[in-house]
Amino acid sequence: MHLSFYCVLLLVSYPVFSAAASYDYKQVLNYSLLFYEAQRSGKLPADQHVTWRKDAALDDKGNNGEDLTGGYFDAGDFVKFGLPLAYTVTTLSWGVILYEDAYVSTNLLDEVHEAIKWGTDYILKCHVDDYVFYGQVGNGELDHTYWGRPEDMTMERPAYQINASAPGSDLAGETAAALAAASIVFKTVDPDYSATLLEHARTMFDFAVTYRGKYSDSITDANGFYRTITYEDELVWGAMWLYKATEEADYLSQAEDLYQELRPEAQRTGFDWEQKISGAEILLAEYSSNATFKTNTQNYVDYLVNNQTRTPKGLAFIATWGPLRYTANAVFIALRAADLGIGNPESYRSFAQSQVGYMLGDTGRSFVIGFGENYPTHEHHRSSSCPDAPATCDWMQYGMNDSNYHILYGALVGGPDQDDQYTDIRYDAVHNEVACDYNAAFQGVIAAFVHLGY
Ligand SMILES: *[C@@H]1O[C@H](CO)[C@@H](O)[C@H](O)[C@H]1NC(C)=O
Ligand SMILES: *[C@@H]1O[C@H](CO)[C@@H](O)[C@H](O)[C@H]1NC(C)=O
Ligand SMILES: *[C@@H]1O[C@H](CO)[C@@H](O)[C@H](O)[C@H]1NC(C)=O
Ligand SMILES: *[C@@H]1O[C@H](CO)[C@@H](O)[C@H](O)[C@H]1NC(C)=O
Ligand SMILES: *[C@@H]1O[C@H](CO)[C@@H](O)[C@H](O)[C@H]1NC(C)=O
Repeated sequence: MHLSFYCVLLLVSYPVFSAAASYDYKQVLNYSLLFYEAQRSGKLPADQHVTWRKDAALDDKGNNGEDLTGGYFDAGDFVKFGLPLAYTVTTLSWGVILYEDAYVSTNLLDEVHEAIKWGTDYILKCHVDDYVFYGQVGNGELDHTYWGRPEDMTMERPAYQINASAPGSDLAGETAAALAAASIVFKTVDPDYSATLLEHARTMFDFAVTYRGKYSDSITDANGFYRTITYEDELVWGAMWLYKATEEADYLSQAEDLYQELRPEAQRTGFDWEQKISGAEILLAEYSSNATFKTNTQNYVDYLVNNQTRTPKGLAFIATWGPLRYTANAVFIALRAADLGIGNPESYRSFAQSQVGYMLGDTGRSFVIGFGENYPTHEHHRSSSCPDAPATCDWMQYGMNDSNYHILYGALVGGPDQDDQYTDIRYDAVHNEVACDYNAAFQGVIAAFVHLGY
């Protein structure tokens, strides 16, 4: 634990923490980027730091032989799921756009650019025609019958697409957002790449708006893993990212119109791989002249800070599968609301410190692998559980009590149940898996902390 100072803030309503501890956030930022390196699929670059990972899934291809290598393995498994991947790229990019100085002061700007580009290079490969996009490589069930290294896997890895006759507005909308957000990140550092990203973002957004439907009705293999409830939220979200990237007023008015058309079930607040409304609202709060969006943002964050169910030790508990990820996502929105002077910035920031404190060690254990005190060592994650080749790695490693062989630096695990109970065991995917989407807003929150000088 890194208790370098105590701040005087008293968290009156949750006396479990009498003071907000401080941690080495710069190290957490660095480690989070190492986690994304560990998730890389495809041919790895010479400057890879996580050297126990090797080239993998080099035969990933589309129905017509298109090269679909690269991108990220989703979580503890090796499927490349397009929706959480796009959400990850959008959210990582958002964190860089807002808190770039944090990456500069830690010398990690190149690393985070590479992390984003690892995602966008793959997304560009998947966008094989204006209205054809590969949204998944690997079959969920086939993949999940395997435990071992990605370098050794031999199961079939089919590719699944959305197209004009089998659309996916949520996937296309989120992918448009990812490409647009990344185009902002690369605007000055690589203008040509940025322009390419933006061109694809525009087309992808047209695809999303023109051919309406839920991607999980088209890519049915995604149903058991990342089924969406609505796609309309991603349309508002995609329009707002195109607005931010282009500054064309038409995208802003499109976002406002699409918001107005939302069915009630598409208005559920929240921010995660599936729900985008609270993210879209805070972008609208910044740019729209309609005060509704500020009000909605404040209501969302106020509820989170004052009314959200808490565990006995003070974690705002939003959902049971991978709860820390939902909390980190919500904290990211709360911090952004504070930046914009919405609601009560001071209380939003102290809320953020208490929640991040929980994640990094306030309860006596860290939930970020390789960081701090008593961190998880039995995460549900195949590649890090395996010894180096040529040693065998299979279901034996899954079932054994030993720690994962490699330290998966920087990964935020799922987290505790509603009573703060957490057991560091490999088979508990609900509480002890790790995933690309878990770390995305979390990394943005940590960047915000570095930016704020915490
Ligand atoms: C990030 O962490 C790695 C592993 O501990 C270390 O080698 C590297 O120097 C760190 N980089 C920065 C910029 O802190
Ligand atoms: C369009 O996508 C659907 C769903 O992935 C697929 O079944 C169908 O074959 C695709 N159409 C073409 C022409 O490839
Ligand atoms: C502001 O947005 C809300 C939500 O779409 C809409 O109901 C309301 O009519 C808008 N107000 C104005 C003044 O445009
Ligand atoms: C949320 O909590 C505040 C402060 O305790 C309370 O005044 C308010 O009525 C609560 N709102 C809801 C929707 O539960
Ligand atoms: C693994 O640990 C559990 C709980 O500590 C114990 O019951 C079990 O016997 C151990 N299994 C092996 C193979 O050591």
